[in-house]
Amino acid sequence: MTGFFYFCTMKKTFKPGNMIYPLPVVMVSCGDSPENYNIITVAWTGTVCSDPPMCYVSVRKERHSHDIIMRTKEFVINLTTENLAKATDWCGVRSGRDYN
Ligand SMILES: Cc1cc2nc3c(=O)[nH]c(=O)nc-3n(C[C@H](O)[C@H](O)[C@H](O)COP(=O)(O)O)c2cc1C
Repeated sequence: MTGFFYFCTMKKTFKPGNMIYPLPVVMVSCGDSPENYNIITVAWTGTVCSDPPMCYVSVRKERHSHDIIMRTKEFVINLTTENLAKATDWCGVRSGRDYN
């Protein structure tokens, strides 16, 4: 087997998807009253445009925060710190549906 033939047969195929890593995460807060304030950890966030200034967060429909943001039409993107690492992880694995 020649080296070139071996290289060709080693080709791996991936399903479509982006591979932009690593991704820093943010804590997105939402809600319009203390009873429904919520925080979701989000990695899919960034800049859409600088003029006009626009940013985005991608939140899956099944997230509790999705309903809140769609209803209130607002959210806050909070940068995290090393001290908040545990809280950031926690808000990424626990839903406001089940925990306050
Ligand atoms: C590191 C990390 C990044 C995440 N990024 C996203 C994201 O970009 N979009 C999203 O919908 N969920 C993301 N999640 C999952 C949500 O944070 C998680 O499902 C959370 O519990 C949803 O909370 P909620 O149901 O109160 O809205 C991420 C979780 C982790 C741990």
